[in-house]
Amino acid sequence: GIEGLPRHILEEILDTAASFVDVGDRAIKKVPLLRGKTVFNLFFEPSTRTRTTFELAAKRLSADVLNMDIARSSTSKGESLMDMLRNLEAMSADMFIVRHGDSGAADYIARHATPDVAIINAGDGRHAHPTQAMLDMYTIRHYKGGFAGLKVAIIGDILHSRVARSQIRALTLLGAEEVRVVAPRTLLPADIESMGAIVCTRLEDGLRDADVVIALRLQKERMDSALLPSESEFFRLYGLTSERLLATHPDAIVMHPGPINRGVEIASEVADGERSVILHQVTFGIAVRMAVMSMCMSGRETERDDSQTQGR
Ligand code: CP
Repeated sequence: GIEGLPRHILEEILDTAASFVDVGDRAIKKVPLLRGKTVFNLFFEPSTRTRTTFELAAKRLSADVLNMDIARSSTSKGESLMDMLRNLEAMSADMFIVRHGDSGAADYIARHATPDVAIINAGDGRHAHPTQAMLDMYTIRHYKGGFAGLKVAIIGDILHSRVARSQIRALTLLGAEEVRVVAPRTLLPADIESMGAIVCTRLEDGLRDADVVIALRLQKERMDSALLPSESEFFRLYGLTSERLLATHPDAIVMHPGPINRGVEIASEVADGERSVILHQVTFGIAVRMAVMSMCMSGRETERDDSQTQGR
């Protein structure tokens, strides 16, 4: 998670990711850092970007990668999660990439799995999506050069968003001047101010002079259906349009972690417009996940080397 992560480690992740990117064409290099390692993608919730970029990242690091089809796994025959993991551990797994609908799932697995396996959180419930926030920080740093003096507006369903939580923590850690969250009160968590964010319930207040605008979708799968906001009403009050973007800094970039819901939180003209860096976020996600996986594994190798030396 970003929580508890020292700033210098987050910066090292961004720097390591940059070393994998060819600046000219944003191509990602192939390197042998995880040759001989086995990575399992364990996605208990749907994913397009995170699962595939973790897979690509593992392959670019020369690891063997397996995508578990959870719906067709023996968990459907009553096998427990931990028993499934023990069996994967017996296949010499080195890393589990975990997405789960329950907040705390990756942490739970990390505490119960064998210490030989590294666990990476690929999104847990409403709690955190650390590598998404890291690739978002990479993208902001790429386009803005740094975080000092930046005003960042995060707009949409903050209440149910693990991405927003991780982004707020990362932006605060890296020294952004203002982190604004823009949403109706009903879509804001009670503890939002304690996270260091400035609350704006009117979109025009949130967008004023913003350098970075991040749109988030309504997380309907985490909402009580009786309390679902009307999509057309949400777009009328909070939807990002070209006209509304005129209030931002003239060089403002527009971001979105995806999946986007066109005409709900963002108009197509903005999602596909010249300020949008949405698809570049996806590309940078490969390099950032390569950085996280390689640093995680090299840290484990160092720990192992140290304990062997001490043992001798
Ligand atoms: N941003 C993100 O987590 O997208 P996916 O759900 O498609 O992985």
